[in-house]
Amino acid sequence: MSVTYNESARSFKLTAKDTCYVLQVVSEGYLAHTYFGKALPDDDLTYLLRLDENPFTPETNDRDRASFMDTLPFEYPTYGLGDYREHAFAIRDKNGAAACDLRYKSHRIYDGKPALDGLPATFTNTPDEAQTLEIVMEDKPAGLEVTLIYTAFTDLDVITRSAVVKNVGGDDVKLTRVYSACVEFDTEKLDMITLWGSWARERVIERSPLHHGKQSVDSMRGESSHQNNPFTALCEHKADEDSGECFGFNFVYSGNFISQAEVTQHKKTRYVMGINSADFEWLLEPGEVFTAPEVVMVHSDSGLGKMSRTFHDLYRNNLIRGEWKDKRRPILINNWEATYFNFTAEKIYQIAEQASKLGIEMMVLDDGWFGHRDSDNSSLGDWFVYEKKMEGGLKALVDRVNALGMKFGLWFEPEMVSPDSELYRAHPDWAIQVKGRPLTLCREQYVLDYSRKEVRDYVYGMMRKILDSANIEYIKWDMNRQLTEVASNALPENRQRELWHRYVLGVYDLMNRLTTDYPHILLENCSGGGARFDAGMLYYSPQIWCSDDTDAIERLKIQHGTSMCYPCSAMGAHVSDCPNHSVGRSTPFETRGHVAMVGTFGYELDVTRISQEDRDAIPAQIAEFNKYNTLVRTGDHYRIGNMFEDNLWDAWMFVSKDRSEALFEFVQVIGRANERSRRIKLKGLDPEAYYFEESKPEVKLSGAALMECGINVGGLWGDYKSKILHFVRV
Ligand code: DGJ
Repeated sequence: MSVTYNESARSFKLTAKDTCYVLQVVSEGYLAHTYFGKALPDDDLTYLLRLDENPFTPETNDRDRASFMDTLPFEYPTYGLGDYREHAFAIRDKNGAAACDLRYKSHRIYDGKPALDGLPATFTNTPDEAQTLEIVMEDKPAGLEVTLIYTAFTDLDVITRSAVVKNVGGDDVKLTRVYSACVEFDTEKLDMITLWGSWARERVIERSPLHHGKQSVDSMRGESSHQNNPFTALCEHKADEDSGECFGFNFVYSGNFISQAEVTQHKKTRYVMGINSADFEWLLEPGEVFTAPEVVMVHSDSGLGKMSRTFHDLYRNNLIRGEWKDKRRPILINNWEATYFNFTAEKIYQIAEQASKLGIEMMVLDDGWFGHRDSDNSSLGDWFVYEKKMEGGLKALVDRVNALGMKFGLWFEPEMVSPDSELYRAHPDWAIQVKGRPLTLCREQYVLDYSRKEVRDYVYGMMRKILDSANIEYIKWDMNRQLTEVASNALPENRQRELWHRYVLGVYDLMNRLTTDYPHILLENCSGGGARFDAGMLYYSPQIWCSDDTDAIERLKIQHGTSMCYPCSAMGAHVSDCPNHSVGRSTPFETRGHVAMVGTFGYELDVTRISQEDRDAIPAQIAEFNKYNTLVRTGDHYRIGNMFEDNLWDAWMFVSKDRSEALFEFVQVIGRANERSRRIKLKGLDPEAYYFEESKPEVKLSGAALMECGINVGGLWGDYKSKILHFVRV
């Protein structure tokens, strides 16, 4: 059983593989957080709550209730009753007052995992994969019930959380904060690891020890953002890739978020994650329900590497859906860096024709095929074919590309509208805006009000016409700006602050319709590179464009950071031309291939114009990708090098689940004279088995030797050189 209830202690224990999470009902129905960590026997852990220590429990001595409120490790703390640490939940009741008091009402335990209404969430493929605990908490005076939902996965060290709020009273209530998770740690001796970034520099790992007070990352941009990813790990100071205790938190959501740790006066840590409550308010009328998105919590007793692999397994099996979930993705060529806006249908065909001869399987037509778009200053929202560029029409091009034996994919940016567009001229009120204020332009575009069904329907109608007009088998869904002046012409004054979340729900609704109506289409998300690389998007699209920076060396960091919680199989990664358009660096074609092979793999260049030498290298590069793709897509990922700490080299591995083979990849970033070979310890092998490296089958070494002593990696001459080694079990 993954979830058990101990009647005498009134405690719930969730067991997820080697992890357990204990919470319990204490004095007067408060819900306390007792333990999160390595699996334990069925002890009564009530002593961990220190209920017998000063300042006493309300039941035994009520003279200092406020101190009790400010010290109990609450499972879902509310605002206004004396708990001055960060709260997870706050309201304004019918009188405008903010205090809220949630007490235990009931619970139920069941197999499987519920879906969250309108929201992405992890799921079970069969009910025996997980068990769920629902605890209903109530605030009688406010007429509210909050159901805390916990799911423990049987074979993964994963517990998920969310909360559903229902107005069961007769009066309106305003929700001013509904976080999804709060976890208390009985120590302040933790490091906080987050992923910050910027356009073309996404997901940089930052690690620092916690200090007293609050430390957080967040987004108020309307998307998860380049700047901070909704991921945080808290770990022991000594934790590294392979050892030490780590707790990973990832939000299955694509809008505003907060991830915050607070070290309190008693040297404890309270961690919270949820929708950012800045500019958030939700009117809950009698009978209405609000659902908070899911937080995935991973525990690892063996370092960050194990934590990441647990996230990867969960997301590959229990988050990503659809026909492409477990399939090798077609090797694509995208024309963005090849032509930008400067193309014709004939030019696209020429690229496809050359690509098809080299083994590339899909032509993706990027931005600029619609309206009258020759640059980024027009036509978003006009999803009809730009005849001047697309002479003969879209279908003719797609048919010609299909006749080459290639699939065809198309770029859309469905959430946006250009001021210079038929859509905006007809419906200026459909853009998100504050009445009476000018709209702020960003990349010459405005954001459509996706809280409005008629707006989504209209855009989707245009998209459907295009999708039904030709054999389109892939969509790149882009989103190139953040939200400003967040107000809706369709919402009443008292619901304006709901727009941030309603916008995200609208995006999810349209992605859901698209993937339901077109189940064969492979959907790749994108947001000015990787500004929406989050678990919410992975529910709709099995791959996400990682970054607009396609330079192989920059990608070492970007992909390493992304792998903290997202699987490599989901990382959009392409071989592009050199000098690289973002950084001006020239790297060997081979290295670009080895780095792109970590992800979905494809090309982002004008294959008719690159050097003959590079072009000639493509068939072998594709063969190499094909050889290792199953291993990369389904195997365990091990980070070995770390460019954030030592930028002279990088290395990583993929090991098959049965440990029968492993791919080792190495990049020499800077070449050095007169150096000995580098000794690198392999990871993840079976210590008792023997392995040979494919190019030297006569040399057999135990997994133990390969992992404890390592291999000598050298012989590379020059900067940015790479090498791959394939180890096979004897
Ligand atoms: C941003 C994306 O990340 C690029 O790959 C490209 O699709 C452009 N947008 C097109 O505008």
